Amino acid sequence: MVDWASNILLWCIILVIPVLFLLLHRRRSGSVRLPPGPPGWPVFGNMFDLGAMPHETLAGLRHKYGDVVWLNLGAIKTTVVQSSKAAAELFKNQDLCFSDRTITETMRAQGYHESSLALAPYGPHWRSLRRLMTMEMLVTKRINETAGVRRKCVDDMLSWIEEEARGVGGEGRGIQVAHFVFLASFNMLGNLMLSCDLLHPGSKEGSEFFEVMVRVMEWPGHPNSADFFPWLRWMDPQGLRKKAERDLGIAMKIASGFVQERIKRGPAAEDHKKDFLDVLLDFQGSGKNEPPQISDKDLNIIILEIFMAGSETTSSTVEWALTELLRHPECMAKVKAELGRVVGASGKLEERHIDDLQYLQAVVKETFRLHPPIPFLVPRKAVRDTNFMGYHIPKNTQLFVNVWAIGREAELWEEPSSFKPERFLDLNHIDYKGQHFQLIPFGAGRRMCAGVPLAHRMVHLVLGSLVYHFDWQLDSSITLETMDMRENLAMVMRKLEPLKALPKKVSL
Ligand code: HEM
Repeated sequence: MVDWASNILLWCIILVIPVLFLLLHRRRSGSVRLPPGPPGWPVFGNMFDLGAMPHETLAGLRHKYGDVVWLNLGAIKTTVVQSSKAAAELFKNQDLCFSDRTITETMRAQGYHESSLALAPYGPHWRSLRRLMTMEMLVTKRINETAGVRRKCVDDMLSWIEEEARGVGGEGRGIQVAHFVFLASFNMLGNLMLSCDLLHPGSKEGSEFFEVMVRVMEWPGHPNSADFFPWLRWMDPQGLRKKAERDLGIAMKIASGFVQERIKRGPAAEDHKKDFLDVLLDFQGSGKNEPPQISDKDLNIIILEIFMAGSETTSSTVEWALTELLRHPECMAKVKAELGRVVGASGKLEERHIDDLQYLQAVVKETFRLHPPIPFLVPRKAVRDTNFMGYHIPKNTQLFVNVWAIGREAELWEEPSSFKPERFLDLNHIDYKGQHFQLIPFGAGRRMCAGVPLAHRMVHLVLGSLVYHFDWQLDSSITLETMDMRENLAMVMRKLEPLKALPKKVSL
């Protein structure tokens, strides 16, 4: 009985206080013109109206509410940019007003958000990390120097695939391609960061690190009631914060072990190419608005962040691209023909070939248009009250950019839902470097992805190599007509049903 009564009391506190808060708040903001949006439920707002594919539901609302939509997601005020015109206005004229990030509960675990570059508020900490990453780590010279390492990771991936295919052999059963692409991406990043093959069968710490990182990336992808109702944070109703604390703690401990080992070993030998960890350890801040050195915690979190930012995004892009090529054999044939012409019988696709692979590049752009890995970008937050396209946007409003909807805007794209890489041969001036607001899978403006030059190379190298070295067939249980193209939106938008395909080694 006492339990029952205290439960009722608890729910009254949870529900009634927010209702009062929302009513009062609505009265105060009643006189300003917010963007239009679907009516919501008391307390929950539009939380339950968006379904499992919110990017798609919202794209469908554009004809009714226009280019900028207002949502109440529980207590979180949210604006969604739904067209390339509104994205251009945002990134050209209002980027600074929306340069902070929304921090979700799982990202607070172990103080991750305090050291992260991707989540840092726009300010000195962000600026110094961003400069370090874009001017020291991800510069063309350093990326060029490490081309051989990436090629080796791709070679490993190709032999793992061959081995796996032999294992399932002859029964028409496909292998899960994305799994191997994920391993290869992870290994490439491991080599760049730490100069070691984390997934080498002999590396016990490497495989432990891989397993825990897979879990670390899982938790932020779960919708969390504590994000919609911040007053529930203390309860952690779904236990997600607890899980994130546990797994991030393990991951940071392993990362710290890698760093300590390096410090013990001393600086790199003269002939050794600097890896990212060398750059981070050598960092010497000006002391003005930035620390003289990177703290141990910041160092561990930067390492984790690069794995999180680069592995699943790359592998899901390659998975969608290969899926589309399998659905469109005429496009697959064109990619193969081009690879044959450019790479020839030299036996290996190298990064230096990418510029000459115009059709492969068009395939990647078309994949990003239809299947952007992060369909709402990484959510931004208004740093102050502002007027956006005639609407009042209060300080702290969360901002999504619906890149998925922009990729399918009927005003911009002919037959927007069809996979037609050829469109980018005609429109080959359009790239994804943040200047063309109709194609922004990496975002744009100040907070645009810091890893574009590396991601560009990884995606083309891996996809091109998969097509160059293998002829692919669908798993015998799947036909072109029955192929499942449903999406699964978590931290990254993957295929709901992982692609299963059969590789047959091409003799070169
Ligand atoms: C296909 C691969 C990738 C895609 C689609 C992708 C996409 C994105 C997107 C959409 C954002 C948010 C942009 C915005 O808010 O406007 C972002 C941020 C970021 N990405 Fe990537 N990314 C990829 C690969 C990488 C790689 C390989 C790295 C690093 C090695 C990386 C590092 C980052 C970082 C550090 C940020 C945060 C930037 C900031 O807040 O200043 N990404 N990425």
